Amino acid sequence: MIVADLGRGNMGEVMLAEDTLLGRRVAIKRLHAELLGDPRHRERLRNEARIAVQFDHPAIVRVLDLLCEDGADHIVMEYIPGPSLRALRNRGALAISYVVQIACELTDALQHVHACGVIHRDLKLENVLTTRDGRPKLNDFGVACSAECIDGPGEIVGTPRAMSPEQVAGEPIDPRSDLFSLGVLLYELVAGASPFAAEGPIETMQRVLHDLAPSLAEAHPDVPPALASLVDHLLAKDPAHRPQSANEVAVRLRALIPGRCLSSASTSRTTCPEAHASRPGGSSARACSG
Ligand SMILES: Nc1ncnc2c1ncn2[C@@H]1O[C@H](COP(=O)(O)OP(=O)(O)O)[C@@H](O)[C@H]1O
Ligand SMILES: [Mg+2]
Repeated sequence: MIVADLGRGNMGEVMLAEDTLLGRRVAIKRLHAELLGDPRHRERLRNEARIAVQFDHPAIVRVLDLLCEDGADHIVMEYIPGPSLRALRNRGALAISYVVQIACELTDALQHVHACGVIHRDLKLENVLTTRDGRPKLNDFGVACSAECIDGPGEIVGTPRAMSPEQVAGEPIDPRSDLFSLGVLLYELVAGASPFAAEGPIETMQRVLHDLAPSLAEAHPDVPPALASLVDHLLAKDPAHRPQSANEVAVRLRALIPGRCLSSASTSRTTCPEAHASRPGGSSARACSG
């Protein structure tokens, strides 16, 4: 039973639903009505469900099922009641210690995603939700890429202000592309503004390709120098000049404020669960045919 609208993105609309049989609330995502007839978008939604269902991590939204209702696919997910990081940041500046805690947990989540051979490709404030107690949950694997990407020839997917230079250039990408996006996300979380903000998407992509981000340390002297320099490092144009893995970022974050990441570290899963089909509660994937 649908209870309320939860939100809309570029591709989907998400509703809160009451599972009356099991007495729980779930979130249900389906394509916007105008995209329903487009087989490419339908495949993207299925791809999102197939990719996200394999993750087993406390900082990643859990996918429960893929159902066909009224001829349309619906992803059933755990319901995350808190605001997105975008909504949270719009309310005002966050304590640096909290930013670091979020960064630790998100980096753990990225380690897990990358260990599963997946690149998220759309990591940004809007795609991280928060739990009632303020912990981050990585969401929206709508353009994530695993062994096969479903982009058309020459198609560039992602959000211009959060894309890596290699993504903007349409070059092959690897997990270090998500690390650049993590740098943008952390910059925005601290500064409240995008490092590459510009008039329109083309100008933004030009800035991502060519401009250095304004220094976080200068604009925000209260930011620990080690955090500002980590963000600078993540925003390196050349992937070879960035931290080389989410693991490397996690180590640096943990060194930043000892003890802050303990709860996340103790639950971190850096390996990928294999045969997710056999996982208890795993998706039964009853997608629409065709
Ligand atoms: N599991 C969830 N629990 C609660 N709200 C959600 C959930 N998933 C998505 N939402 C809401 O719906 C919005 C759009 O979801 P998203 O998956 O990002 O769609 P899109 O792929 O179109 O960008 C989110 O910003 C959030 O407000
Ligand atoms: Mg989204």
